Amino acid sequence: MGKVLIVEDSRFINKVISNRLKKEGFQVDNAYSLQEADDYIYQNNYDFIILDLHLPDGEGIDIITNVQSMSNSKIIVLSSLKDDYLREELFKFGILDYIVKDRHLNYSLEELLKILKKAELKDSEKILLVDDSKVVHMQVKKVLIPRNYIVKSVYTGEQAINLIKKEKFSLIILDITLPDMNGVDVLEKIREVNSKVPVIVLSGTADAATVRKILKNGANDYIKKPFIFEEFLLKVDLLIDHYRQSLKLEELNQELEKKVKQQVEELLEKDRILSVQSRLAEMGSIINMISHQWKQPLNVISVTVGRIFINYKKGKDIDNIINDCYKTVNLQIENLVETLHTFMDFFKPDKNIEKFDLYEAIRNSVKLVETVLKKENINLKVNIEENILIKGFKNEFSQALLNIINNAKDAFSDKDLKEKIIKICTTKKGNFIYLHIEDNAGGIPEKIIDKIFEPYFSTKSNSGTGLGLYIAKLIIKKHMNGKLTVENTSEGAKFTIKLKTYN
Ligand SMILES: Nc1ncnc2c1ncn2[C@@H]1O[C@H](COP(=O)(O)OP(=O)(O)OP(=O)(O)O)[C@@H](O)[C@H]1O
Ligand SMILES: [Mg+2]
Repeated sequence: MGKVLIVEDSRFINKVISNRLKKEGFQVDNAYSLQEADDYIYQNNYDFIILDLHLPDGEGIDIITNVQSMSNSKIIVLSSLKDDYLREELFKFGILDYIVKDRHLNYSLEELLKILKKAELKDSEKILLVDDSKVVHMQVKKVLIPRNYIVKSVYTGEQAINLIKKEKFSLIILDITLPDMNGVDVLEKIREVNSKVPVIVLSGTADAATVRKILKNGANDYIKKPFIFEEFLLKVDLLIDHYRQSLKLEELNQELEKKVKQQVEELLEKDRILSVQSRLAEMGSIINMISHQWKQPLNVISVTVGRIFINYKKGKDIDNIINDCYKTVNLQIENLVETLHTFMDFFKPDKNIEKFDLYEAIRNSVKLVETVLKKENINLKVNIEENILIKGFKNEFSQALLNIINNAKDAFSDKDLKEKIIKICTTKKGNFIYLHIEDNAGGIPEKIIDKIFEPYFSTKSNSGTGLGLYIAKLIIKKHMNGKLTVENTSEGAKFTIKLKTYN
């Protein structure tokens, strides 16, 4: 925070301002007369001087001329006078602001603080002045430089356009009559290079039509010369503030856009990973099921081939059995191929949404697990209504069902039950069919029942990916327009799929 001299003969006011500024971190000296002020200014270098105009030994205005020739201090006038002429003259001298003291000083104090803080901002804005008059250059610099602005000034339109191409400005002040070009043409060229930078047009002579044209061509404001300095300064401050905010907003928008894009990318990537993982898990379970179904025929083939070999080794005549064996092996190979086709059909991706028979879709899933269930002594009871048409992706639906049946099968794995039952049945209500898949394996702990549809949630420490139910729910909801829910019964878990019928 900067160094401030308060020149004010009322000890009370001087103290109030002083305390407030010290609280904000400013370093403060207090002068109560012209003489004291002069002494302080002579010995110190102040960033700001807060100046009362009426002092016991003279007029504060004398200090202003003095200070301007001696130092870079910025002056803020604090006065109870509401003299517009004086006020304007002081602005011409380059004071930072003119604050009228209110009765309780509160309002003026806050205003004062605002001005000081703004003037303290380190990053200065750059202004380009395009005017052919040296006097205007001097005047504008005199009032803008104390306000922390960097002013670059040129005399012709061509110089201005060249400079704008090379440097960034926060504001352009443009005289309408220039020696080489018409200001309106310069404005047009400025807009070609930078469509957003604010432009104030100055003119001494412009008629209404020209003013209209200037504003339509993209000027942000128009000021008639000779201008009122305070109005000029207010407009400069306002336009630059506004421009700075719009740039910030634009930056924020761009950042936001970038973030959204990034997150969408991340989500897509997650989806891709998920689909690859679920595909891998599916393949694992297909191979597992195929291998179960192949075991039996492969066994028969192996035994048959063994029979031929042993008979042959023993020197027995194999002519009479070879025919028999050939038939058996052939039959088993047919069986193997058929199983393979069933699986291939089942896991072929669906191309179209179609109406299909619910019974048939359930049969397809059941066919694949039957052997495994039998081997694990699980009794599968299917009791479903026939001739019910539903709509969606057929194979996907059967896969979802398979995931649910497989989970029921897994649930029995650590249970020693007399009778293991998986029951698949339907109930019909109006246009809806409810398909229930129920087991008696003890159910799902209440603690986790809300989580089982989340991706990667699994209690099967090594063997589960936790994607089975997530995928099943996704298929039922997104591709079948249905609903998959779960509840515990007194004996086990009960999954219900609600679907619309299309008979
Ligand atoms: N019928 C059921 N009885 C008891 N618990 C079940 C049943 N069905 C699902 N669960 C629980 O829900 C969890 C999530 O099932 P999900 O099918 O999503 O994954 P997973 O079976 O563990 O893994 P994956 O399906 O990849 O083999 C299971 O780990 C299990 O704890
Ligand atoms: Mg599962």
